[in-house]
Amino acid sequence: MDSKTMMKKLERIQDLPTLPTILFEVNRLLEDMNTSAKKLSDTIAKDQSMVAKILKLVNSAFYGFRSTVSDISNAVVLLGFNTVRNSVISVSIIKAFSGKNDLEGFDIAEFWKHSIAVAVTSKRLAEKCRVEAPNNCFVAGLLHDIGKLVLSQYFQDLFKKVWTTAQKENLTFYEAEKKEISVKHPMIGSLLAKKWQFPDYLVDAVKCHHAVRKNVNNYELLLIVYMADMIVNQCAMEPEKPMDLSAVHPDAAEMLGSYLENTNEWYETLKAEIESACDFFLKQEE
Ligand SMILES: [Fe+2]
Ligand SMILES: [Fe+2]
Repeated sequence: MDSKTMMKKLERIQDLPTLPTILFEVNRLLEDMNTSAKKLSDTIAKDQSMVAKILKLVNSAFYGFRSTVSDISNAVVLLGFNTVRNSVISVSIIKAFSGKNDLEGFDIAEFWKHSIAVAVTSKRLAEKCRVEAPNNCFVAGLLHDIGKLVLSQYFQDLFKKVWTTAQKENLTFYEAEKKEISVKHPMIGSLLAKKWQFPDYLVDAVKCHHAVRKNVNNYELLLIVYMADMIVNQCAMEPEKPMDLSAVHPDAAEMLGSYLENTNEWYETLKAEIESACDFFLKQEE
C-alpha cells in the first residue's frame, strides 16, 4: 500500500476512537486566556465520570497531596489548568482504545506500559533540564506511539507484516516498518492527534519521535520524548548497559548533558513511579 492510499484509507475510517466532548470543551476553554477556574470546573462537572477520574488521579500516589481533595474546583486550583487538561487527555486516550482486541503478538497492556514508562521518563527529564513543562512532556510521552495502535487495529495485515519482520530479523518495530510500509506509526499517530485537535506541539512530538527535526512547534519537548523513548527501550533490553551516546542526537545529548551518563542508575529509581502510574491509568474502572 503506498502512502497516498494509506492516508486516504486513514481519512475514511469512520470508527476511529473518539474522545469525550468534554476534552474538546476543555481544550477550547484553555485557549482563552480569560477562562476562570470556576468556568473550567463547571465545564468538567458536566461529565461526572471524568470528575470521578480526575479526583481519583489527584488523590492517587501519583501527585502525592497529603489531604484528600473531594471536589473538582479544588482539584483545578491545586493542579493548575494545564495539568487538568493533561489529566483529561491521558484518561481519555487510554479509555478510547480500551476494550479493543489484542492482535496476535501485540499485547495492548504491554503497549500502555511502554507508553506510561516513556511518559514518566519524559516528565523526569523535563524536571531535570527545566526547558519544558513536565506535564506537557508526560502527555507527549503517553501519546508518542499511538500510531502503532491504529496500525494494529485498522491495518492488521500491514501490522502483522511489520511485526513478523521485526521478530524474524531481530529489528525494532520502526526499523521493520521502514522495510515493509510506506506510512509509519509516527505519521499515522500524528494524523490521529490532529484529528483529535491536540495542540500542535503534541502532534509534532508524535510525528518526529524517531526522526528528530528542528522545525517543529516545540523542539525541546520533542527531544525529551525522543530521548525518553530511547532510555526506556534501552533499559528494557539491556538494563545493565550504559546509554550509547554516539547513537543519540547531538542536540539531545547537549540538552541533557551528564544526565545521560548514568541513565540505568536513575531509571531504577523511577520504576516505583512508573508502577504507580500504570496502576492508576490501567486499572480504570468503567
Ligand atoms: Fe515509536
Ligand atoms: Fe516508543
